[in-house]
Amino acid sequence: MSVSSAGAQQQTADIDERVAALLAQMTLAEKIGQMTQRNASFGNPVDYLGDRLRSGRLGSILNLADADVVNELQRIAVEESRLGIPLLVGRDVIHGFGTIMPLPIGQAASFNPDVARDGARVAAREAASAGINWTFAPMIDISRDPRWGRIAESYGEDPYLTGVMGAATIEGFQGDDLATPGTIAACAKHFAGYGAAEAGRDYSATYIPENELRNVHLRPFKAAADAGAATFMTSFSDVNGVPATANDFLLRKVLRDEWGYEGFVVSDWDSIRQLQTHGLTENDRESAFQAVTAGVHMEMEGDAYFNHLESLLTDGEIDIAAIDTAVRRILRLKFELGLFDNPYTDRAALPAIGNEDALAIAKRAALESVVMLQNKNAVLPLDAQQLKSVAVIGPLADKPYEQLGTWVFDGDPTLSVTPLSAIQQFAGTDLTVRYVEAMRNSRSRVGPGFDEAVAAAAASDAALLFLGEESILSGEAHSRADIGLPGDQVELVRRIRETGKPVVAVILAGRPLTLANIIDEVDAILFAWHPGTMGGPAIADLLFGVASPSGKLPATFPRMVGQVPIYYAHGNTGKPPTAETATLIDDIEEGASQTSVGNVAYHLDAGFKPLFPFGYGLSYTEFRYDNIALSANGIEPGDRVVISADVTNAGEIAAEEVVQLYVRDLAGSITRPVRELKGFRRVGLAPGQTVRIEFELHTDDLAFYGRNMQLAAEPGSFHVWIGGSSEADLQASFRIDKSR
Ligand code: BGC
Repeated sequence: MSVSSAGAQQQTADIDERVAALLAQMTLAEKIGQMTQRNASFGNPVDYLGDRLRSGRLGSILNLADADVVNELQRIAVEESRLGIPLLVGRDVIHGFGTIMPLPIGQAASFNPDVARDGARVAAREAASAGINWTFAPMIDISRDPRWGRIAESYGEDPYLTGVMGAATIEGFQGDDLATPGTIAACAKHFAGYGAAEAGRDYSATYIPENELRNVHLRPFKAAADAGAATFMTSFSDVNGVPATANDFLLRKVLRDEWGYEGFVVSDWDSIRQLQTHGLTENDRESAFQAVTAGVHMEMEGDAYFNHLESLLTDGEIDIAAIDTAVRRILRLKFELGLFDNPYTDRAALPAIGNEDALAIAKRAALESVVMLQNKNAVLPLDAQQLKSVAVIGPLADKPYEQLGTWVFDGDPTLSVTPLSAIQQFAGTDLTVRYVEAMRNSRSRVGPGFDEAVAAAAASDAALLFLGEESILSGEAHSRADIGLPGDQVELVRRIRETGKPVVAVILAGRPLTLANIIDEVDAILFAWHPGTMGGPAIADLLFGVASPSGKLPATFPRMVGQVPIYYAHGNTGKPPTAETATLIDDIEEGASQTSVGNVAYHLDAGFKPLFPFGYGLSYTEFRYDNIALSANGIEPGDRVVISADVTNAGEIAAEEVVQLYVRDLAGSITRPVRELKGFRRVGLAPGQTVRIEFELHTDDLAFYGRNMQLAAEPGSFHVWIGGSSEADLQASFRIDKSR
């Protein structure tokens, strides 16, 4: 045993002892108090929470981000309550605190866990300086429906990518030791299946077969538990008929019994009482019963536990063990955070919000998150030496707040550098920049600004359009049924196109959008998500070729919304489509018979392909993939195989590429997806440089929950691909043979 793990074990034993000693002194009312969390976002919380704190009947608050007030509440808890138990102070610190990183979906596009880890570290320090010691992040719900507004907050459609990015985020928030100033506890949410809301309508019911739940939706949560996420949050939604907040299959069978998770579980906002609204229970008392027996340890902003746990216990409906387990876990986190030793925030000891280091990390994250979707005739990068003028047009070119995206309670728009100001700075005096907002917001209709924009484009050498969605169009409860560019943006694009000038669209949005109606109208598209505080400088660097785009799509971009759900890791079906068999509506001959259009799985009017696939993203250079090789063609359960290939920068500019590894298990006890991401690596290559990239797979990496619901890799044949997107075509094969 290493010295440090021996030290950690000793620390755990010490904490367990302190927890047990404290628990032994607690009254039932004090225990139940620890299991409650209240909103402290309005007025002066000392007035309405002070007495409850003094009586030791409140374990946690949320939505207060003011170190002085938090310190005062902690003082009351510690000095004026009988047992002096400090508070957990929770807040949604989702993609930054004051300094805002790109949306999580943008961070996922970097395919770089360092982006997530570093961003979370910055966020933790800034949040800690406001008295916060617990964030409700990361959100690791798998999202295969861009109508769902919370896809913005997710790492996209893939369980492996989500698991890697989620784990890195947890590491960034929590550091090596939660007691270190500037670290905060993480919360993996929303357990589980929330992203599968019917029709992408937030809070709607989800129906997910158990295999699918385990193989797709639960995988990132297992990665989060393994990464040491201090807490989990339940989801608002109904999962197969039992809302997640009372779902004993999820909370007891999987999380507690199978995974042995030792952190605590918090409900979502008032989601215990909502069990009645769902139609699961008849009153709050029953709701409290169902949640506590399923394994929800703390109630967020509701009083079902506060009002009913005591009588449930005295009436013998629940056992004191359920309460003690919850309180033990909550207290343990308070000890781990070092709150019993020092509950107070010392702002001066933490780095200032929006410092240089934070801004540099935000800029790098933004740079790596932008995905270039199209670049006809290599219109990008712009040549600042050749151009005399550019028109900067659109509702999102100069909106310091909108570029931050959803969930930025504490985001400071005064720190934002907008694309317009970054372009102006880049241009200096040599390049004229003509700015026209054209539309007040992304939803505006045709107005006089359109003519002004056309005039600016006509007078300039290139038009740069800043389009997309403002931040309010995505996020919680902000789902859309039409995911095209809102308002009259498409009309604006058409008018600018008529000037005959090169047109570059830079799109800022919280979700994949349907862009089929503009791809022929623009030369280039940079998809920037909501890129955060430093979005402007990152976009300017990419436009002018200071850096090459390197982001890759973490979610499929459908051609039209009717294709949703469309994702790369789908089942093959018995009638998979091909270019030859999937006849499109316009190609159907007069009088064709029912079967002559192919009888395959596709839409007559959309085909079978998305507009842009998962993992896709262009660069200013070309990357070539060759010489795929395997360390073995046959392996046995428990073995490893190394898959390698050469990646060459075949162009003339240094650039980074995200090399991706996909696998297909050709036959299984349940059918397997046509491809699954199993590895990725971001590499920087000089012009002409070739590197050999190796991925190692253990047979455990190929395991899935099969027909018998056991996690195992099944013997048989596998295909592997290495390349720059989920459509990579450099392929090899191997087998897992039965153990001899
Ligand atoms: C959201 C959670 C969030 C909580 C606290 C809820 O409405 O679903 O994700 O952490 O509010 O703000």
